[in-house]
Amino acid sequence: MITTVIISLNVLQIPQDHSGTPTSRFGKRARPLLIAFGALLWLCHASLYSGQSLAVPYHPIDALISAAGKRYRRWEKENTWTGTLGMAVVNYRTRYGRHAPPNFDKWYDFAIERNSTIIDEFDNIFTDTLPFYSLSPGELRRRTAEDIAQLDNGVEGITIRNGKAESVRQIPEDHQWQLDAILNMMKDFVEYLPDMDLAINLNDESRVVVPYEENEKIYAAAMGAFLKPMRRRPRNIFSRTRAQGWPKISNDSIEPFHVSKPFEPIFDTFGSAHCHPQSAARAAFPWNTAKLCQRCLTPHSHPLGPFPNNSFAQDICHQPDLSYLHGFYASPSSFRGVSQLRPTFSQSKAPGFRDILYPSPWNYADRSGTVYAPNDSFPDVSFQEKEDTLFWRGTTSEGFATANGRGAWKGMTRQRFVAQANFPMEQNVLLPYIEEVNRWNYHRLSTAQLQAYFHTNVSIGHPIARCMWFDCDDQVNFFDRTHIDFQTHWRYRYLFDLDGAGFSGRFIPFLQSRSLPFKTTSLFKEWWDGRVMPWWHYIPVDPRLVGLYSTLAYFMGVDTTGDDQAVERGMDIKWKGRVEEAEKMAERGRRLAEKVLRKEDMEVYMFRLLLEWGRLVDENRDEIGFTL
Ligand SMILES: *[C@@H]1O[C@H](CO)[C@@H](O)[C@H](O)[C@H]1NC(C)=O
Ligand SMILES: *[C@@H]1O[C@H](CO)[C@@H](O)[C@H](O)[C@H]1NC(C)=O
Ligand SMILES: *[C@@H]1O[C@H](CO)[C@@H](O)[C@H](O)[C@H]1NC(C)=O
Ligand SMILES: *[C@@H]1O[C@H](CO)[C@@H](O)[C@H](O)[C@H]1NC(C)=O
Ligand SMILES: *[C@@H]1O[C@H](CO)[C@@H](O)[C@H](O)[C@H]1NC(C)=O
Repeated sequence: MITTVIISLNVLQIPQDHSGTPTSRFGKRARPLLIAFGALLWLCHASLYSGQSLAVPYHPIDALISAAGKRYRRWEKENTWTGTLGMAVVNYRTRYGRHAPPNFDKWYDFAIERNSTIIDEFDNIFTDTLPFYSLSPGELRRRTAEDIAQLDNGVEGITIRNGKAESVRQIPEDHQWQLDAILNMMKDFVEYLPDMDLAINLNDESRVVVPYEENEKIYAAAMGAFLKPMRRRPRNIFSRTRAQGWPKISNDSIEPFHVSKPFEPIFDTFGSAHCHPQSAARAAFPWNTAKLCQRCLTPHSHPLGPFPNNSFAQDICHQPDLSYLHGFYASPSSFRGVSQLRPTFSQSKAPGFRDILYPSPWNYADRSGTVYAPNDSFPDVSFQEKEDTLFWRGTTSEGFATANGRGAWKGMTRQRFVAQANFPMEQNVLLPYIEEVNRWNYHRLSTAQLQAYFHTNVSIGHPIARCMWFDCDDQVNFFDRTHIDFQTHWRYRYLFDLDGAGFSGRFIPFLQSRSLPFKTTSLFKEWWDGRVMPWWHYIPVDPRLVGLYSTLAYFMGVDTTGDDQAVERGMDIKWKGRVEEAEKMAERGRRLAEKVLRKEDMEVYMFRLLLEWGRLVDENRDEIGFTL
C-alpha cells in the first residue's frame, strides 16, 4: 500500500511558472503538483471556453440573476400569508390532496403567533414523508425501534408520551446537546403531539438509500395508500391507544443492518444507487481523472459559461466525477448507510437519500461557529466598507483521508478550493469586451494575473483533521493554517461556504450578515431548501470550481492597469464590476434570513413535520385529519 502512495506522490510535478514569479501567499513549504494523473487539487480545465474569440453577447450571470428574481418574487407572493385558518385548511387539501393532520389548528395558531409568513408551502415535508406511506404504521414503529435500539449506530431516540418528550437514553454530552436542542425546539408545542418515538441521526452524514429498482415499487405503494378518497368527516384526534403500539426499546444488541464501512468510497454502493441504471453515474464511462469531466459539468451549466443551474446541479445522476470530488462520496468519516427505507430524521441529505429533514440543532442551539454575533471588536460594517476579498476558513472535515493510497483528500472540495484560491491554474475567465453594450470575452489569465486581480484570503483554519499517517503529513506540508475567530468573517465582502461532512452550519449566519455568501452547489439539502434562491440570495459555484474566477470577475471587477503585458496584448480593462448588485444580493439574503430562517421558523417547521409524522405512524392514519 505504502509503495502505491510514494509512486503517486512522485508523479506530482512542480507547477511551471507561467508568467514571471507568482506572488503566492500559499504553501511556503511545498508547492507540488499542477497537472498529474490522479492529482485532483487542480482539475485541468485550461481548454474550457478557450479562444480569445469566444465572445458572449450578454453576461450569463445577468440572465441568471434576473431569472432567479422572477422566480423568487413569484414564490414570495405565494408565501406572504394574509389568510385565515379556513383558507389554510382548503389550501392544504388542494396542495397535498388530503386532509391536514389532526391539531392543524394548533399548528396554525402557533405559526401565526410567530409571524410565520409561510403557511401553505411545506413541500419538503410532503416529499420527505411521502415514500413512508408505502409502509404500514406498525412497520414504521418497528423500524424506528430497531434503529434506536442498536447501540453506537449514530441514531438515538426521542420518545413522546402524554405530551412530554425526553431522550430515550442519556448519551455522552458531545452528542446529548443535539437531543437537548431538539427537545428545546419542541417544548412549546409538544403537548399537541401524539405518543411516538423518533429515530434521530446524530451524524452529519445522511444514511437512508432506496435503490432505483425499489424506488418505483415504493412510490406506487405510497401513492396507492395516499390517493384513497378523502373521508368527508375525518376525526380530529390521534388514536388513543398509540403508546402500546411502540415496541419497548431494549439495549439488546440486534443484528446490525448498516452495511457500509467507514472511510470506504460510497458513490457506487449508495450515492448513485437511486439513479437510472443507464445514467452516467451508474453506467460508468472512462475518463482521465486529472481532467475535467465536461459531460458531468455542462448539462447543469448555463450554455455560455460554467455557471450552475442549481436545481439541475443537485441531480448527481449525470455527475459520476463527484465520486472523487466530494469527501462524502470519496471517503466519509461516519457514514452508516442502509439500503432500505427507514424512518430516520437527519439535518441534511445528499441527492437521492430518503432521510427526513428537520431543522439543524447546530443553528437552533447557536453552537459556536454557527452564530452571527458581531460586536464592537468584530463589527459587521456596510458592504461598501468591507474588504473586497473572498474569504474562507475551515477544517479538513469533509471526508477522512485514510492514507490508503487513493489520496482522497486531493479530490475533496475544501482542499481543492484552498489550492485553487491560493494558486489558481491558468484558465479562461469571462471579462468585459465592450462593457457599455454588454459584450464579453473569455480571456486567458495566468496564475500571476489571477492572483493579482482577485483578492482571496483562504486557508485551513485548524489543525489538519480527519486523516491518518502520511495523508496527515502531506496535508500539513501542503496547507498553511491560520486560525481566526468566527466573527472575523464580517470584515469581508464575499464569504465562501462549502459542504462539510454534511451541510454547512455557517450558511444561515452568512446570510444574516451584510456580506455576500458564495456557496458550492451543495450536495446537501436542508429543511429550508426552496426558501433561499441561488443567484438571488447567494452565489452558487460549481464544485469543480471552474466558474469561480469568472464569477469573482463579475462582482469584483478587473483592473489590468499596470499589467503591461496584458495591456500590450490588448487586454486593457478597467471595470469596477457589479458591486452594487452584490450589495443588493447580500441585503436580500439578510432580509430573507430575518423573515423565514429564524428560530421561530425552525419551530414552526418542526411542529408541522411532527404532526405529519404523527399521523403517518397512526393505525388510523386514513381516518384522522383536520377539517373545520
Ligand atoms: C410578530 O410581529 C409583531 C408585530 O410586528 C411583533 O410585535 C411581535 O413581537 C412578533 N412576534 C414574534 C414572535 O416575532
Ligand atoms: C441502556 O443503556 C443505557 C446507556 O448504556 C442506560 O442508561 C440504560 O439504563 C439502559 N436501559 C436499559 C433498559 O437497560
Ligand atoms: C434549470 O434546470 C431545470 C431542470 O432541468 C430546468 O427546468 C430549468 O429551466 C433550468 N433553469 C435554467 C435557468 O436554466
Ligand atoms: C466580541 O466577540 C468576541 C468573539 O465572539 C468576544 O471574544 C469578545 O469578547 C466580544 N467583545 C465585546 C466587546 O463584546
Ligand atoms: C487574512 O485574514 C486574516 C484574518 O482576518 C488576517 O489576519 C490576515 O492579515 C489576512 N491576510 C491577508 C494577506 O490579507
